[in-house]
Parts: sequence; C-alpha cells; structure tokens
Amino acid sequence: MQETIRFVFDDRIVEVEFSKSSRFKPTTTVLNYLRSLPMHKGVKEGCAEGDCGACTVVLAEVGSNGKLVYNTVDSCLVFLPMIHGKQLITVENLAFLKEKHKVLHPVQEMMVATNGSQCGYCTPGVVMSLFGLFKNHQNPSRETIEDALTGNLCRCTGYLPILEAAQKACSGTGVDHFSQYESGVIEMLQEITANTETFKKKRGKQHYAKPFTLKEALLLRRDNPTSTVINGSTDVTLRQTKKKELLTGIIDLSGVEELRHCSETPDGYIIGAGLPLEKVRLFSEGKLPALHAMLKVFGSLQIRNMATLGGNVGSASPIGDTLPMLIAYRAKVKVRSLAAERIIGIEDFLTGYRKTALNDDELIMEITIPKTVAGTYVNSYKVSRRRDMDISTVSGAFRLTRQQETVAGIILAFGGMASTPARAVKTEAFLRGKEWSRENIEHAMFILSKEFTPISDARGEAEFRNTAAKNLLLKFFIDSNVPDPVPRSSD
Ligand SMILES: Cc1cc2nc3c(=O)[nH]c(=O)nc-3n(C[C@H](O)[C@H](O)[C@H](O)COP(=O)(O)OP(=O)(O)OC[C@H]3O[C@@H](n4cnc5c(N)ncnc54)[C@H](O)[C@@H]3O)c2cc1C
Ligand code: FES
Ligand code: FES
Repeated sequence: MQETIRFVFDDRIVEVEFSKSSRFKPTTTVLNYLRSLPMHKGVKEGCAEGDCGACTVVLAEVGSNGKLVYNTVDSCLVFLPMIHGKQLITVENLAFLKEKHKVLHPVQEMMVATNGSQCGYCTPGVVMSLFGLFKNHQNPSRETIEDALTGNLCRCTGYLPILEAAQKACSGTGVDHFSQYESGVIEMLQEITANTETFKKKRGKQHYAKPFTLKEALLLRRDNPTSTVINGSTDVTLRQTKKKELLTGIIDLSGVEELRHCSETPDGYIIGAGLPLEKVRLFSEGKLPALHAMLKVFGSLQIRNMATLGGNVGSASPIGDTLPMLIAYRAKVKVRSLAAERIIGIEDFLTGYRKTALNDDELIMEITIPKTVAGTYVNSYKVSRRRDMDISTVSGAFRLTRQQETVAGIILAFGGMASTPARAVKTEAFLRGKEWSRENIEHAMFILSKEFTPISDARGEAEFRNTAAKNLLLKFFIDSNVPDPVPRSSD
C-alpha cells in the first residue's frame, strides 16, 4: 500500500504526504496545492468549476508509444492523487535559461508579440492551453486552435490576438526545451508507476483509495459500498468545490489502465468506461459520426481530457449529452463486481433522476455500441445557450430505419425533457409504419408537444423546451433527406 503520492514537478520527483500535520488532504485540488507554493502562483482561481480556464495546467504522461502525451486540464477539478505518476507543468516551467538568460517559450513570445495579454488574469491559463496546442499540433487549423482555447475565458483581449499568437507559435516543429529533457522525465515517471500498490489514505472522516489494477478496484468497491467512485471527477469534484460537501469515501479509478481501452469489432465499437472523452472523440471519427459531432461541443478540451464516457453514463444526468445518443445507438453497458458481470441495455441502466441500475459492489466497465445496418440513419442535436462550453437545455438523438419511404424503425431520444433521458414513445408509435413525409412529421411534432411535461428552470422555460424538441424532430427529418448529412450541434 502507498500512503504518499509522487509526480514529476520542476524537473524532479515530488512526494506529497497527507499525514495529520500535512497542509494537504487527498481531496486538495491541484489548484489549491499550487497556490500554496511560493513559486507557482501563476495559476489562478476564476470559477473553481471548470468554466473559465484560469487554472489550466498541463499533465504529461507516458503514452502507448512510449512518448510523453501532453494534456491540458482544469486544475480546480483535479484531486492531488489524480496526478500521481504524471508530470505537472505550470506556466512557471515554460521559460528556460540559456547562457544565464531567461528565454521565453515560443507560445509566450508570441503572446507578447501579438499583445495577447491585457489585465493578465486569464493569461497563465491561456498560455498553458497554447502550450498544449504547441506540443500536440503543427500548423493547426483555425478550428483546432479555437477548440484548444474554448475552455479559456478572456474578458479583455477579444481573443483575436490570442488566436494569432496560437497560429504563429504553432507553425514550427513543436520541438522545445521539453523535447530535450523528455527521456529523463519518462524515466522518472516509469520509476513512479513501477509501484502498482494501491494508494490509500484515511484522514479524519475521509478515506481516499486509488487502485492501479481492475482487481484491486473491484475489491475496494466490494469492501466500501458507500464510497463515491470517481474517474475524471469533473462531476464529483464540484460537490466539494461548489456544494462544500465532505466526500467521505473516494475510490479513484483514474489510474486503472484496464478501463481506458477502445476497439472495433465486426459487430460494433467497445469503449472503456475510463477512456477520456477527447480520446473517444478521436476514436469515433469516421465510425460514429453523430457521437463525434456531439463530442466536439462537449465542455472544453480541458474537460474532455479528464471526463470519461463511464462518468457521463454513471452520472445519469437528464442533460448528460451522450445519453440520448447511446439510447439511439442502442448501446449496452457492461458492469462488473468481483463475483459477476452483467450487460444492461442503456435504457434499463438509467433508472431515474441521477439513478442507475448499478449495484453498490459494481463498476461500469465499458460501453458497447452496435454497428447500424444499411438504411439506418442516426443524428444528434444539442440546444444550449452558447455553442461551446455549455450544458444542454434540450438535446435529441434520433435513429431512423427506412424501407423505401416507410418508417421501419424509429427511436426519438431526448435529454432535458424529463427527469432522465427519455424516448418519445407515443410519437415513435405514430410514425412507425408510416410514410417518412413532411405531413406525418408535422403530425408527429404535435404529438411530441403533448408527450413530455418538462420543467422550467434557468436554462429554459417548459414551453421553450417543447418547441425546441419539436423543431429538432423537424430538423432531423430535413437532414435525413440530405445525402450524406453532416451531424452537427445547433445553438
Ligand atoms: C465545465 C464543465 C463542462 C461540462 N460540460 C458537459 C457537457 O457539455 N455535456 C455533458 O453531458 N456533461 C458536461 N459536464 C459534466 C461532466 O463533465 C460529464 O458528466 C462527464 O462525462 C463526467 O465524467 P467523469 O469521468 O468526470 O465523471 P466523474 O465525476 O468521475 O463521475 C460521475 C459519476 O459517474 C460515476 N462513475 C464514474 N465512473 C464510474 C465507473 N467506472 N463505475 C461506476 N461509476 C462510475 C461516479 O460515481 C459519479 O456518480 C461538464 C462538467 C463541467 C465541470
Ligand atoms: S478556476 Fe475556472 S476553470 Fe478552474
Ligand atoms: S487579459 Fe484580461 S481576462 Fe484576459
């Protein structure tokens, strides 16, 4: 058993312990850890809920090709044990010394050259997002640059100078002083991760466990049925940072490699519950176009680098963006305890408002999405106040199987219309067997407007939700008649 965590920081292995006399608890966020250090105050707290990006840092880890992979994350959402075995990079690490002179990193140089900083509050976070872009892309497109910066709010610059800085800084080879020291960092990270004993710490009323194997994770789950399971923790951390809840027991799955896989089989696609959504987005390109398009407008890159598909399914939120789509795709959820394994259809898995069919000794293992047959068309739509970085007011994911012009099969799944993602079963029943025509769709829209009684809240009035749902169905009808439609989000 390990009682401390270790990560690479400022070019060396740093060990953090959580004894009674330590300033840090396992649920101290990386943001608060950094703010407590004299030399790392560049990182800022803007919102403490993943929305502003002022706290952005980069985590590097050894990828499957043996090289370092650099990911931007919101440090306000990350608990300290989640960075065990990774390199933590902050804005203070970017400049380097050359012949006793401090030299700015290319992304910093370009921010200066383009006047990309004014008040400077957002700047360290923006610079770290640019650094992540620099390490992952050469000559990125405007779309890629905008995606990398979606999670960084700036009140002053109007973004144009920052976009220019990004484009200029990332026009080279991506080689920098981090490239020079990469092999040394990899050695240090491998030294840390060679120890796969579970990290466990009890401090006061709180106990935190981070297993590194599936078997250990299942044992912990069996022995601690009331503990909260976390993966990316982009949902759960907010219970602490915003609701000030004491998370008494935590089982942190972020180190369990067996949950981070994805593959294609002759029948479908298998996505590990612990695979970060950005990796799911990349995997789904060209295979599951509706899922791919939706993940483009899911949170920000910082969120998708941490958040997982298992977490979205496990949260069972009525506005969880992947859920209507998984219903439309007829996905199945594989869950497992130490003793047994079950495969549950996604609709049976979601049992109520933030409730699932998961037993308290089980973990979500993977999600399987069957391939669709020829003649089947799936698309999804998200209605939110802004296109990027916003949670849905209403979402819809629809599946149509046509025989000539007749509806042979139809699934109309909605988010934000009921206490759980739900199908419009009466509207589906009306359409089944009918001609797929504008006239029938207009009739179906009328039935749909009576089928749900959504709530009114800050995101939208009930009437707005009903109107949006009807119009999404109409949009699906129109898109289904366009050859080779490109699924997209609407704002
Ligand atoms: C700024 C911000 C933007 C966001 N934007 C979006 C958005 O656009 N669309 C959207 O749908 N959501 C959004 N979210 C919500 C959140 O990011 C997603 O729900 C995400 O998929 C959760 O994944 P996670 O791995 O972080 O889950 P966690 O927070 O780790 O867990 C969420 C729930 O799932 C359970 N769980 C996780 N993994 C397992 C497992 N393997 N076995 C059993 N239970 C498990 C946990 O116990 C918990 O109940 C956003 C959140 C933030 C903070
Ligand atoms: S402080 Fe705003 S995203 Fe972390
Ligand atoms: S420079 Fe002021 S918030 Fe970005």
